[in-house]
Amino acid sequence: MNRIHQLSQLVISKISAGEVIERPASVVKELLENSIDAGSTRIDLEVENGGVDKIVVVDNGHGIQPDDLQLALASHATSKLSNADDLFRIGTLGFRGEALASIGGVAQVTLQSRPADLPCGAEIYCHGGEMSPIKPWNGSPGTRLEVKHLFFNTPVRRKFLRTTSTELGHITESLTRLALAYPSLHFTLKHNGKLMHEIPATAGLLDRIGLFFGAEVRKAMHEVHAERGPARLAGYIANPACDRGNAKLQYLFLNGRWIRDRSLGHAVQEGYRGLLMTGRYAVSFLFLELPPELVDVNVHPTKSEVRFRDAQTLFHLVLTTIRSRLTEANLVPQLQAPDPNAEFGTRNVETSDAEIGMRNVESESEADELVPPSGGQGLNFPQAPVRPYNPEVFHTSSETSSPDGNSSIPNSEFRIPNSHKVLQLHDSYIVIETPDGMLVIDQHALHERILFEQFKNRWRGGTMEKQRLLIPEPVELTAEQAARVLEAKTELAELGLEVEDFGNGTVLLSSYPALLGKKVPATILREVVDFLVTQDRTPNREQMLNGLMSMMACKAAVKAGDRLTPAQISALLEQRHLVNDTHHCPHGRPTSLLFSRRDLDKQFGRI
Ligand SMILES: Nc1ncnc2c1ncn2[C@@H]1O[C@H](COP(=O)(O)OP(=O)(O)OP(=O)(O)O)[C@@H](O)[C@H]1O
Ligand SMILES: [Mg+2]
Repeated sequence: MNRIHQLSQLVISKISAGEVIERPASVVKELLENSIDAGSTRIDLEVENGGVDKIVVVDNGHGIQPDDLQLALASHATSKLSNADDLFRIGTLGFRGEALASIGGVAQVTLQSRPADLPCGAEIYCHGGEMSPIKPWNGSPGTRLEVKHLFFNTPVRRKFLRTTSTELGHITESLTRLALAYPSLHFTLKHNGKLMHEIPATAGLLDRIGLFFGAEVRKAMHEVHAERGPARLAGYIANPACDRGNAKLQYLFLNGRWIRDRSLGHAVQEGYRGLLMTGRYAVSFLFLELPPELVDVNVHPTKSEVRFRDAQTLFHLVLTTIRSRLTEANLVPQLQAPDPNAEFGTRNVETSDAEIGMRNVESESEADELVPPSGGQGLNFPQAPVRPYNPEVFHTSSETSSPDGNSSIPNSEFRIPNSHKVLQLHDSYIVIETPDGMLVIDQHALHERILFEQFKNRWRGGTMEKQRLLIPEPVELTAEQAARVLEAKTELAELGLEVEDFGNGTVLLSSYPALLGKKVPATILREVVDFLVTQDRTPNREQMLNGLMSMMACKAAVKAGDRLTPAQISALLEQRHLVNDTHHCPHGRPTSLLFSRRDLDKQFGRI
């Protein structure tokens, strides 16, 4: 065990400075890292009220010499670094000698520690930076750190804290990252006296993945291994079918440290190119090992961002490793499918645009999922064949005309008389000959708008129909995701989506909006989760409901790339007059464009 010492001014000036304690989860991260650096094999974490009231970490590591306790809490004092050169060969998680001092400045800290070779340990308090004298402590070998009343002396920062469940979610995320990186350590997490996680030591990362993300994710994993020069890459990547709406389940570790790296994130997505719809993200757990001198971890105070000496090589290593593993797993043939996105390449990709063209490479069953329910709600669409490309021309017939059988509905200027020609182009656009020109409709945008209006009308009228599940379905989420869902519980219930906390990140789903018909209920919930976690700040009630309805409408609507039958097209067109603003989708894009006969004649020089 190295002794703690004050760093020289020279070294201090080279260390990336900045605040590392933002919220309870930052305290947890720093304390767990210290316990790991101390060679612990078991670490018990206990928090109260989302960590705001109390955080306790007990480890069985090598402890701190009684004489060093004051230094442990002092600024720029560490046992992990001596001179400036050491900054380029860091083998520990900590090295700045700052974490405990920062925590001691904004909370009430008790540090108790006993090295195994001493008969008795010692303790010290630090309240808002003020240290107590050292007293003997009669505990077992290892270290116990108690942090109470975080930000008690900085009320402004306290105000930025969110609900208990959100803070707990962040804490669990900090624990998850470290537990994934150190499978051989035993961790426990208690919240308000209740055991939330018992994470026994295991030889395999896969066990940890299963423990935190559920059996479904675990089953989708493919192991990867690769080397290039001194760089080694190992871990697991998921089947593309296990995709998510954000990149949160793309875990990346460098030498045992969780990091965020934009370039390597791109490399992961590139590896999956053609296998994921735009806006969808792969799930991966990648561990990169590099000699310490090839990476600078001293660029960000929380060490979550690093600078690689040769970022390019690592980009290729990640990309090619993923590609070749997916090929091996026989998942790549779909990569050769024609890229239906190509002609839309210049479009501004938004939520609703995200799926344009991508449905062609999907299975029939997925396409089936997207068709709204039959039986009078939504659009009554018979099942449509999705491919191959073969545009069909047809005339609408009387049975597919407007509901009251005549054409005098006080509708829009785009009303479709019975005998006019209708054509679906590129499985994306519906072109209609109108008396004074031609109307081009974006099928996805229009359907999305219709569904959105239907959702809104029903919600306003309190008639949002819900489909009850005979047996409530447990959906495994990360703790943070579960927290977000449960925070939005009331709004979700108003939309027919009823959820209950089932503990340990699992949420019980007991009903879903009937308008979403055939969609798999768990999929609906996951999409809602993706929506909620990508909201930067907490939306107000109305924004939340609007956002959720527009998201659900987008997901349930037919996609560009879906071949529609004449009956489906007619059903879609019939619904246009039922809603207020069919001219724009909920994201503000137009749903239809009119080309007047006069304009056409003019353009061709006829008039
Ligand atoms: N759980 C622990 N077991 C043993 N020693 C500890 C423990 N926690 C802290 N220490 C000692 O206290 C010192 C200060 O800890 P602190 O977290 O403030 O700094 P650090 O880990 O050296 O660097 P960083 O600020 O980057 O985390 C450490 O260098 C270590 O010697
Ligand atoms: Mg530390």
